[in-house]
Amino acid sequence: MDIAAGIDELRARLGRKRSIAFVPTMGNLHEGHLQLMRTARRHARFVVASIFVNRLQFAPHEDFDTYPRTFEADCEKLASCGVDLVFAPEERELYPEPQSFFVEPPELGAQLEGEFRPGFFRGVATVVMKLFNIVRPNVAVFGKKDYQQLMIVRGMVRQLNLAIDVIGDEIARAPDGLALSSRNGYLSAQERAEAPRLHQTLLWVKSQILTGMHDLALLEGRAIEKLKQNQWQIDYIAVRKQSDLQLPRLSDRDLVVLAAVKLGTTRLIDNVEFSV
Ligand code: PAF
Repeated sequence: MDIAAGIDELRARLGRKRSIAFVPTMGNLHEGHLQLMRTARRHARFVVASIFVNRLQFAPHEDFDTYPRTFEADCEKLASCGVDLVFAPEERELYPEPQSFFVEPPELGAQLEGEFRPGFFRGVATVVMKLFNIVRPNVAVFGKKDYQQLMIVRGMVRQLNLAIDVIGDEIARAPDGLALSSRNGYLSAQERAEAPRLHQTLLWVKSQILTGMHDLALLEGRAIEKLKQNQWQIDYIAVRKQSDLQLPRLSDRDLVVLAAVKLGTTRLIDNVEFSV
């Protein structure tokens, strides 16, 4: 496996390759990321992963400075699952001058995650666009845990006519149901034991809808109460349409329940897709 820190070096290693699958990451890799790499492997002859903690998508009060940087361990993991090339630029390589052009996401970018993390999706869309322009992949793989991110990237690719096939990969979970996340490492032992309640609550919402509950606002409220009773702080629990993350009508069949919640100081997101 090769590692490139510079854009010119990366392009030289990519040469004229025509079958490239790309997985962007911020490092601190876990089994969920490795699953994305294996999915990428099935879709192209050459797999590129990037490791870059993108300041642009962090608000000033968020964990940019403390976000775990585990480069050597990450590279070992990437090599073990057959990644061909890692792009690991320094900040000055991707942002050699203050960024003043941005990819501005649509209204969806201000909802759900966007309501609680203003500017987040602008930062994500801008860096993903830069990375796509640098790597020029045929296929890009994103995890469904970041459901809204995946939808925004798909929209960007479609509307800006990028010739990239965006693949959404299933959420990797621990045996107790907790969605794997780089931020799970922030949980204390007690919080880690409590954390699976999030997935259980989303499954409960799903089961209520499947057994005929139509009042989604009431249901979301009950789910919020269940978590609050166990010391969770809630940003949102929302049932939305899978197709566009807007409020469902009674006739809508393919739904997703999404949540962003905090246990102590750790913010977790998760979602469950289902069809009625
Ligand atoms: O999902 C992530 O890890 C990041 O948002 C991404 C896509 C690598 C952009 O920085």
